Amino acid sequence: MFGVVDWIGPAGPLTNRSIMPVCYITRVEDFCASHRLHSPALSDDENRTLYGKCNNANGHGHNYKLLVTVRGEVDPRTGMLIELNQLASLIREAVTERVDHYNLNLDVDFLQGVIPTAENLCQAFWDQLESRLPVGELWEIRLEETGRNIVSLRRE
Ligand code: NI
Repeated sequence: MFGVVDWIGPAGPLTNRSIMPVCYITRVEDFCASHRLHSPALSDDENRTLYGKCNNANGHGHNYKLLVTVRGEVDPRTGMLIELNQLASLIREAVTERVDHYNLNLDVDFLQGVIPTAENLCQAFWDQLESRLPVGELWEIRLEETGRNIVSLRRE
């Protein structure tokens, strides 16, 4: 329920109908990309053991799901936090169009020198998205490398 907030404060019952509710909105975008996980800090054997298939010499692909959550107050004029088409365009321009169907090790300018683990991708995607969103609005990035391997990032 949004629009009216009634709560009990430390000093007793308090009704404050002027508090703006905070909402979280998540947009899901997909992309496909190839990568190779290989750390120069490890031996070839250690890389193979650690990264498994993701260490394949010629790379391999994933169908990624990127979930971007923004947080903020609902605009009483629109009943919305952010226009979803606007959020979708922003995610595509900042991230997914720049990585979709590319080799993450070689083709993406903002990933040069980055081992493209899901953890590192979240960090890099955050940097790309944050500057395009109003300060404080970006709340969480979640990257599903597979349906079973999921990384979330928040910078609180
Ligand atoms: Ni992989």
